[in-house]
Amino acid sequence: MAAPRILILGPPGAGKGTQSSNIAEEYGVEHVTTGDALRANKDMDISDMDTEYDTPREYMEAGDLVPDQVVNAIVEEALSTADGFVLDGYPRNREQAEELADMTDLDVILSLSVDREELVDRLTGRRVCEDCGANYHVEFNPPEEEGVCDECGGQLIQRDDDNEESVRNRLDVFDENTQPVIDHYADRDAFVEIDGEGTPAEVWSEIQNAVDERTE
Ligand code: AP5
Repeated sequence: MAAPRILILGPPGAGKGTQSSNIAEEYGVEHVTTGDALRANKDMDISDMDTEYDTPREYMEAGDLVPDQVVNAIVEEALSTADGFVLDGYPRNREQAEELADMTDLDVILSLSVDREELVDRLTGRRVCEDCGANYHVEFNPPEEEGVCDECGGQLIQRDDDNEESVRNRLDVFDENTQPVIDHYADRDAFVEIDGEGTPAEVWSEIQNAVDERTE
């Protein structure tokens, strides 16, 4: 089979980024993530798009969705050059799901589920390397030396939207906008629900089985 086209869905903090890195490495596909793409372009001028704010930054710091037209363009460009992918962070509402259906077919649709209060703990304790993007958690996955990345020695920082107020808003935005998208995919053969509450290694093992079953 050609390189797989994988979609990973789930609420903020479910482990999409953590598991997408494993998927990209194991299956040799590109990790296409709207969150990282937007963080790299936070101050992009979008004032000509007739949006409420002039840059993505304000939407992201509040935990609200960045306007569809900005995100759709990022994904369309990334998928047009990818030979197999794991798509993380998109689609987040029905309009984006309709756009995606026009862009590509999907071989596997993974949906990670995790209890809400566990998500709040995971996100408020998350730390990321400002140089290489590696992901840690102060309690569940601490670095060897506090504040320093094991991989590259870079400084670990807290994302601007990982404070409790933004986290709770992101979870509300997920329930209202993204859960209906998951419900819409749930009856497809490619769809599989993954229990996201095990250890990262347990979740990864379940994901590998699901992808292998659907792509062999
Ligand atoms: P984005 O960057 O996509 O954030 P998110 O969806 O909120 O997801 P996260 O990255 O926070 O969580 P994750 O599921 O990847 O979890 P992780 O693996 O890091 O989006 C940010 C913002 O950008 C949005 O709010 C919006 O403004 C904008 N945006 C993005 N896409 C958009 C779109 N399509 N449309 C409009 N706007 C868009 O894990 C979390 C923590 O838990 C880590 O500390 C990790 O170490 C730990 N952890 C992971 N797995 C486990 C485990 N099994 N057990 C214990 N701890 C674990």
